[in-house]
Amino acid sequence: MTTEIVQALIWKDNALSVLDQRQLPSISHYDHYGDAQGVADAITSMRVRGAPAIGIAAAYGVVLSLQKHYEKTNVWRDNVAQDIKLLAQSRPTAVNLFGALDKMKTVIAQDSGNILAAAVECAVALHLEDKAANRTMGEFGADIIANSTGILTHCNTGSLATGGYGTALGVIRSVYARHRINIYANETRPWLQGARLTVWELSQDGIPATLIADSAAAWLMKSGAIDWVVVGADRIASNGDTANKIGTYSLAVLAKQHGVKVMVVAPTSTIDWSLNNGDTIEIECRHPLELLPESYNTPNSLVSAWNPVFDVTPAELIDAIVTERGVVLNPSQQLHGMASLQA
Ligand code: MRU
Repeated sequence: MTTEIVQALIWKDNALSVLDQRQLPSISHYDHYGDAQGVADAITSMRVRGAPAIGIAAAYGVVLSLQKHYEKTNVWRDNVAQDIKLLAQSRPTAVNLFGALDKMKTVIAQDSGNILAAAVECAVALHLEDKAANRTMGEFGADIIANSTGILTHCNTGSLATGGYGTALGVIRSVYARHRINIYANETRPWLQGARLTVWELSQDGIPATLIADSAAAWLMKSGAIDWVVVGADRIASNGDTANKIGTYSLAVLAKQHGVKVMVVAPTSTIDWSLNNGDTIEIECRHPLELLPESYNTPNSLVSAWNPVFDVTPAELIDAIVTERGVVLNPSQQLHGMASLQA
């Protein structure tokens, strides 16, 4: 089995170090955070990204808040609540963020014992549990994909986006460990997570990968080079509708046309059981200038940009949802398929 070398988040000496993903692949630089505001900014500014990694970072952000405020004044709970609010506002789509904050709120709500120690324990456990879930999902997914010859993935879902190993990229790692396979990665406009993170991460592990422009995906499928699209998720509704990086929906539509299968890989912390379907998932729209060439950024410019960074793939276009609790095949055709994943 391959082991991942890259670490997005390091909790050490009561501080959080975050690998600044905006500078990859050319520079590997860690920023060190000692307060929750810094962590919220690291999430908003995309230094750390990927649904599980965002949740874990936010949990450590709450620990940092407690380190600053716990028992120092009698309004420490208000101060920590303010920081939690700030962390919750850092990005809207990945449900892991809100799930992690809810877990930390439960720890803080207790009225006896050392709350700071309990919070550290909870955040570290979230981190380790995510890593372990990824290993389990890797094997579950690899069992399904056993005979595949080519896989296309989208965005980054590896060690950088999670507690370690990865969701979709974890499955790809596990498949590759069993037999050699052709791995293709979409560049993933506009932030280029595929080009700057995914293929770099794989290369760090000695796994070869081929980068394609997002717009080459249909032609790749037509060529017969791939039989699976394997992606992660930012939020899965209880019917299996899946929000993931913008472009995932197009891939699923293209896959249907070409007889290619679609696998979503995500821990159960990515499932939002409060949603019946994906219609009400909040889709983050980022600043137009992340997309728009600077020369159009002039007063009275007639050119604007619409920059949604996630989309929702309907469950009927998904062939398998892989979680650490098990796999649901054809989620739209199974009345209680998703419910079987509920704790
Ligand atoms: O905008 P990002 O880089 O945070 O988006 C990341 C993704 O969409 C991933 O595919 C998703 O979080 C699944 S990651 C394990």
